[in-house]
Amino acid sequence: MTRGEAYNLVVQSTKNRNLVKHMLAVEAGMRALAERLGEEPDIWGLAGLLHDLDYEETKNNFPRHGFVTREKLLPLGVDEKILDAIVSHPGHPEHFPRTPMEIALYSVDPLTGLIVASALMHPTKSLEGVTTEFILKRFKEKRFAAGANREQIRYCEKLGLSLKEFIEIVLNGMKEVSDELEL
Ligand SMILES: [Fe+2]
Repeated sequence: MTRGEAYNLVVQSTKNRNLVKHMLAVEAGMRALAERLGEEPDIWGLAGLLHDLDYEETKNNFPRHGFVTREKLLPLGVDEKILDAIVSHPGHPEHFPRTPMEIALYSVDPLTGLIVASALMHPTKSLEGVTTEFILKRFKEKRFAAGANREQIRYCEKLGLSLKEFIEIVLNGMKEVSDELEL
């Protein structure tokens, strides 16, 4: 599946524009991480872009989140590594993230939420003005963007990155697509 095909699928399956932007943010973070870790940016990027494809369908049925996407993408010949990462990103106990790409997706997902919330409360209301230190401070404020699970973000340490390095890589990746993110 090409990036363009994946993007069209995301737009067709997702009514909420903020959810589309969320998937674009995770794509950017995943690509940036893959580049830093010497992995495959196109594959990691596709996993990020497609990871919440079934979100609107499964939001009231969490155990199915990820699995519905796999069922949709399997017949389209999408790389199984991508499907495994998508199935494990919600942290289902029976499919917990294990490979570097799976761990990356699991941790990037909530971090992009924390970064977006931080940018929106920054005086510049943009990604451009936000630094790694600014995000780290927000990270430590437990009640700020409480939905962004801190333990899940910290799981990035399994990739051999410090929390600070992880934030820096993902933030820079998101800054590269700030126009698309409208932030
Ligand atoms: Fe997500």
